[in-house]
Amino acid sequence: EIAKRVEALLAQMTLEEKVGQMAQITLDVIGKGDNRYSSHEPLSLDPTEMRKALVEYHIGSVLNTANNRARTPQVWYQLIGQIQDVAMKQTRLKIPILYGVDEIHGATYTVGATLFPQQIGQAASRNRELVRRGAEITAYETRASSIPWNFSPVLDLGADPRSPRHWETFGEDPYIISELGKEMIRGYEGEQNQVGHPEKVASSLKHFLGYQVPVSGKDRTPAYISDEALREYHLPPFRAAVEAGAHTLMVNSAIINGVPMHTNHALLTGLLKEELGFKGLVVTDWQDIEFLHTRDRVAATHKEAIMLAINAGIDMSMIPYQYETFCNGLVELVKEGKVKQERIDDAVRRILRVKYALNLFERPVTNPKDYPQFGSKAFEQASYQMAAESITLLKNEGGILPLSKGTNVLVTGPNANSMRTLNGAWSYSWQGEKVEEFAGKNNTILEAIQKEIGAQHVQYVPGVSYNMEGKYWEEAADRMDEAVAAAQGVDVIILALGENSYTEKPGDLHDLYLTEQQTELARRLAATGKPVVLVLNEGRPRLLSRFEQQMQAVVQIYLPGNFGGDALADVLFGDVNPSGKLPYTYPRFPNSLLTYIHKPSEEQKGQEGAYNYEADFNPQWAFGHGLSYTTFAYSKLSLSKEELPWGEQLTVSITVTNTGQREGKEVVQLFTSDLYASGITPDVKRLRRFEKILLKPGESKTLSFTLNPQQDLSFTNSQGKPVVEAGEFEVLIGDQKKRFRLLENGGAN
Ligand code: IFM
Repeated sequence: EIAKRVEALLAQMTLEEKVGQMAQITLDVIGKGDNRYSSHEPLSLDPTEMRKALVEYHIGSVLNTANNRARTPQVWYQLIGQIQDVAMKQTRLKIPILYGVDEIHGATYTVGATLFPQQIGQAASRNRELVRRGAEITAYETRASSIPWNFSPVLDLGADPRSPRHWETFGEDPYIISELGKEMIRGYEGEQNQVGHPEKVASSLKHFLGYQVPVSGKDRTPAYISDEALREYHLPPFRAAVEAGAHTLMVNSAIINGVPMHTNHALLTGLLKEELGFKGLVVTDWQDIEFLHTRDRVAATHKEAIMLAINAGIDMSMIPYQYETFCNGLVELVKEGKVKQERIDDAVRRILRVKYALNLFERPVTNPKDYPQFGSKAFEQASYQMAAESITLLKNEGGILPLSKGTNVLVTGPNANSMRTLNGAWSYSWQGEKVEEFAGKNNTILEAIQKEIGAQHVQYVPGVSYNMEGKYWEEAADRMDEAVAAAQGVDVIILALGENSYTEKPGDLHDLYLTEQQTELARRLAATGKPVVLVLNEGRPRLLSRFEQQMQAVVQIYLPGNFGGDALADVLFGDVNPSGKLPYTYPRFPNSLLTYIHKPSEEQKGQEGAYNYEADFNPQWAFGHGLSYTTFAYSKLSLSKEELPWGEQLTVSITVTNTGQREGKEVVQLFTSDLYASGITPDVKRLRRFEKILLKPGESKTLSFTLNPQQDLSFTNSQGKPVVEAGEFEVLIGDQKKRFRLLENGGAN
């Protein structure tokens, strides 16, 4: 049905109309009115600019401007309504506009919407159901604002903690990213990807491929990734998401192996569209076609840049400054035979398919009054639940946590009283500067603790403060002496350190250590002799090894969203038993930024008494680490066969017992090790399955996992092909491990 409608429309379109569909402009281009940055006032768009862009140039898509702030659903409705009105009443073919926004942890650009923990925290929860529920709510609240297209999820491998977008990922493991990515897509698009439903949105897989592992650690700088590594570690989440039917995909802005991804025909067309069979639309990242000329210098002119990108497989250009240059240039390129008509038709077909699938022709806007659950208590509860399950207890010396509610505490640190730091960037605005304005009614860490134990038990001195005016890294140690003095009068210090909000280039760092001022505050507070509970509210693992030993407890909260303060207070004072697990390796030293996926030679131990190999893999906390207020014991690991015939599946079972005094959730993680491989050295171990379970004190559960060797024991060889080899493997769960042998195809090994 959709295919027929697409073909019928395509057949009527002129080249100019087709090319216009391939351009996406920012709201700034058509929104010149005075209320442009108002959240509550209706926004008047510029009729002349609208006519020029939409009617004369046939522009097909609009997105938010970078610094725009959130709007109420009503204002969005009115705004997108005006745009759709022009597109559908004044243009010849009445094609609706596709409006896209980054609603990456809730409907972040809508006032009053439910904001969730950022993806890194969601990964720590290891709770598939909560991830899907969060995405369902996000889709509902996004559509409540007439926005049908969400630039989410991020499927990048979070393998470099220096990256300013590390927190936007699901962490460092390809299997977790694949699993949670699929859940997010289901939540956004629905079980059968029925995005035409008024409570669903189209998702956008990003950023294809190999983003976030640059040599420099800085955003959008070159990376060198072997074909083998690209396929083994970076590709699987995208493959899984394409199989899950996601409607759109965004391209990595950076240069991989010397080639800007936006010109990489082999990866965009060969791998993505042909090999993976991706049928959706491929959009550039911000201004990236122009950058091929102005920044990456693979095109001597803007027009050449357009040719390279479109021929590589780009379907839509996000921010083609100036859109006139893009549209006219592309029309000329087709007329000159430099871009084939079929390539244009393929791109426009993909774009129209998404518009039809979203049902935009019949329902170009959705009325907020049809979304009564928007901002409801039930939605808030889902966000709180996710925050509570993401919080990861990294250290708890002497069982200092949970604290009793009669404890007198000093709450201090730059993150102690800030909603902005709880949410991070992409929250009501690009860099999160507007959070304090819009998340006002929710509780900061300080406010939540005051509510939890009564203000009379709580003293507060910031000690160090961030500059909230946009200079993200400026800190003032304004009241450090006062904080140290206040510590004398309390039982326990709750020290909230971390980072201010940031994303993309503004979040680039020169030094991964936590800042000097925060380190000094931690040391001086520890020197008072009072126990310090360190709360980490950070987007990436900032190094702590200069003072971590002086902290009695460490609690990682990541960027937990609007209910993160409440969830933390409940963890600190024992109402919630923590169950988050690190989705990344927490590094100890700047020269040891490895992930848990590495080769055995990273773990060579020095000989006792002879040499001490200081630089052995020795993280601060391992991938998957996370304590609980109860204890769990693993037993009875059993494998269905010790000699597994080729073509058969392996069943693995394990018993987990809650051996402590409290009910708690445990994440059971199954790893495999391939002991020997040909050509490529096998990784020390790889995560193959995880499951989160709830156990009462004394209760045991037996879990059973099925491994399919063709998928779960394969590796990518140096020709980029997946191979499974007979031989010895090990299964590891908790502290248990067992070996088995995979027999040769057609005979015993
Ligand atoms: O979706 C984002 C992308 O992740 C980074 N650059 C801008 C895009 C649109 O806002």
